[in-house]
Amino acid sequence: MSDAYQVAYEREKQARLAAEKLLDEKTREVQSSIDMIQHQFNDLMRQKKESDYLLAVARLTQLNEGLSKSVQQYTQESMLFLGAKFSRYSFINEGKIKISSTIGLDEFLPALKIQAYKKIYGHHDRTTVCIKDLNQIELERICEKNDVDRVVLLPIKSFGKVTTVCEIYLPKTIDFKSEVLDQCQVAGYQIGGMLERNANNKKLEDSFSEITSSHDRLKQAQAQLVQSEKMASLGQLSAGVAHEINNPIGFVMSNFGTLREYIDVMSEYFTLSGQLLAVSDDDIAKKMQAIDDEQDIKFIFNDIHNIMDDCDDGLRRVKEIVANLKSFARGDEEEAEDFDLNTCIENTIKVVWNELKYKVTLHKEFDETLPLIHGHEGQIGQVIMNMLVNAAQAMEQEGEIYINTQKQDAIIRLTIRDTAKGMPESVIEKIFDPFFTTKGVNEGTGLGLSISYGIIEKHGGTIKVESEEGVGTSFIIELPCGK
Ligand SMILES: Nc1ncnc2c1ncn2[C@@H]1O[C@H](COP(=O)(O)OP(=O)(O)OP(=O)(O)O)[C@@H](O)[C@H]1O
Ligand SMILES: [Mg+2]
Repeated sequence: MSDAYQVAYEREKQARLAAEKLLDEKTREVQSSIDMIQHQFNDLMRQKKESDYLLAVARLTQLNEGLSKSVQQYTQESMLFLGAKFSRYSFINEGKIKISSTIGLDEFLPALKIQAYKKIYGHHDRTTVCIKDLNQIELERICEKNDVDRVVLLPIKSFGKVTTVCEIYLPKTIDFKSEVLDQCQVAGYQIGGMLERNANNKKLEDSFSEITSSHDRLKQAQAQLVQSEKMASLGQLSAGVAHEINNPIGFVMSNFGTLREYIDVMSEYFTLSGQLLAVSDDDIAKKMQAIDDEQDIKFIFNDIHNIMDDCDDGLRRVKEIVANLKSFARGDEEEAEDFDLNTCIENTIKVVWNELKYKVTLHKEFDETLPLIHGHEGQIGQVIMNMLVNAAQAMEQEGEIYINTQKQDAIIRLTIRDTAKGMPESVIEKIFDPFFTTKGVNEGTGLGLSISYGIIEKHGGTIKVESEEGVGTSFIIELPCGK
């Protein structure tokens, strides 16, 4: 080879070596870029997986579907996130550990050794336990079969205590950094926070409903006070009126007896004078005879007896009304006493008869062998009166009221049934509420039934209602028999 060729060859060789070196360098650079990109991609994927997991748990806390469902879903999400084979959770209930069924495994998985549970329930951090360390042959067999060698115990803490623990069973092949498990623990605490919020909300709701119900009780007590005040003044008024009427009625009735005797004497006297006039020629006798012919003295005397009978009847009725007014006037200040319910009903009917008589046909189905009731007759009368007036007011035209009394064991049952318009469910729900009325402004205060309810309750009894629109209503009152 000539020198010139040799030189050219050498130059060519050097150039190729330089080019190859450059190519090598470039290849290395590209490879390291690819590695870097791959690494970044892996990092991104890992971050995406983490944020997907945390997002899913955050969504769970917002959905707020209660303890079991939230914990179950959290366990499931954590299982997916960690690439676990199967999982389950347990929680403490009245000091006992309750274990859920296993998620992702068809066969029965025995519980861990109690020490493992105690460890985590007494402890606040997650733990990873090697299955072999548990010394549980059956558990070990199942785990081995499924290629599982560890269980991660993730605590859920609320109000500073571990209340729930998730068991995540990891396969041998999985290897990850402990930060990943930290993420799970943080997510578990989020669930714990949700449980705390739930418990606080429940407490708030409870105290709110406690406040509402004591407000209702207060309102009812106030309504009862107003009504008993009203009844007390009505009672006083009735007692006053009854007393005032009682005296004149007394002397009218006693004079009436004397008047009847006088009339009997006069009747006999006029009968005899009539006989005398018939045989006398005297002028005065003739005039008297003319009056008799014109007026018919005999008829007058007969009619006087009828009029006297009617007046007698009227007077007796006035006397009865006065007596009823007096019994109605007896209010709270009266001592409780034994009384007969049938008589109480009869007296009440007399007091309200005016309100009923044009519309109502009354049917009394009384058990005549009723034992006495111990309580306030006036108050029970007030309840019956309100029921009867309500029934009559609910009648668009004429209707029937059936009053039934009955004894059953130690209970006396009073049923007041009407054939009035009945009530829809929306009205039935509210009838015992103070101030609830469907009547016009000046027709009803809406206190009648709430007061009645209070009275029956105070007597140790119950009051129930059954009603059907267009058919009628029954009020069933049960009271204990007196001793
Ligand atoms: N027998 C009944 N038939 C149909 N509705 C009834 C009957 N009894 C009660 N109600 C309904 O229940 C409501 C409440 O009755 P409640 O006796 O408490 O008050 P009220 O009769 O309206 O007023 P108050 O008794 O103060 O005069 C009535 O307005 C009425 O709508
Ligand atoms: Mg009423």
